[in-house]
Amino acid sequence: MTNLDLYAKAEHLLGIEEATEALYDLYRSELDEYDVKTLLDVGCGRGGFMERMISDGVKCKGIDLSEVMIEECRAKGLEVECIDVSEEQGIYDAVVSIFDVLNFMDKDSLVAFLESVAKRLSDDGVFIADINTLYGFSDVAEGTMSNDTKDEFLNVDAVFENNELHTTFTLFEAQENGCYKKYQDTIVQHFHKIAFFQKLSGLKLVEKQTFSLYDTEDKTLLIFKKR
Ligand SMILES: C[S@@+](CC[C@H](N)C(=O)[O-])C[C@H]1O[C@@H](n2cnc3c(N)ncnc32)[C@H](O)[C@@H]1O
Repeated sequence: MTNLDLYAKAEHLLGIEEATEALYDLYRSELDEYDVKTLLDVGCGRGGFMERMISDGVKCKGIDLSEVMIEECRAKGLEVECIDVSEEQGIYDAVVSIFDVLNFMDKDSLVAFLESVAKRLSDDGVFIADINTLYGFSDVAEGTMSNDTKDEFLNVDAVFENNELHTTFTLFEAQENGCYKKYQDTIVQHFHKIAFFQKLSGLKLVEKQTFSLYDTEDKTLLIFKKR
């Protein structure tokens, strides 16, 4: 199991449903400014945003690097693939990467990722993504939490150092024989300065909005057009 698959298994224990819905509302209202008939959701997770857009009549495709996430989307009947964005072939009016997806990449991977995104946009297309601010990493995300259900126990321990947030997920899952299976892995998220996004070759940053998702000014929404 990859670290992204472990995140997928643990996500429902993180208590982020309300924040996720608030983010979807924000993306939805930003996309209202554009004539969006087709949308690619990169890092689509369980497909919640696509479900919203589909109900508004938008044709959607999702891609994610976690097979666990993609299987859940397939079970909901969504059009999805477990591929890297560089392997995607379609052209879309809008591309979105919602809830920290860009922070999952280091600078080099992010440059390649954004070049691939630019190639998937129609001439008037828009790319919207969010990133964590430095405050969002150092003051909001850092720390320890745990949660459990009848059959699962999750511990999350996050440390922010040298512009990287290292989050270790430890999940215990009850088995049929009464024993618990332990999964443990770490996800590294990278802090990115706004200035980095202002000098991309394929995308032009047209708008940035810093806002409060969990706490004061912990996130920035970035809106790009094709260059
Ligand atoms: C915090 S989750 C957000 C999921 C979804 N966008 C949502 O709002 O519910 C981040 C997602 O990004 C995916 N991911 C991370 N790096 C990725 C990459 N380079 N390409 C595609 N998906 C990626 C993870 O597997 C995970 O599903």
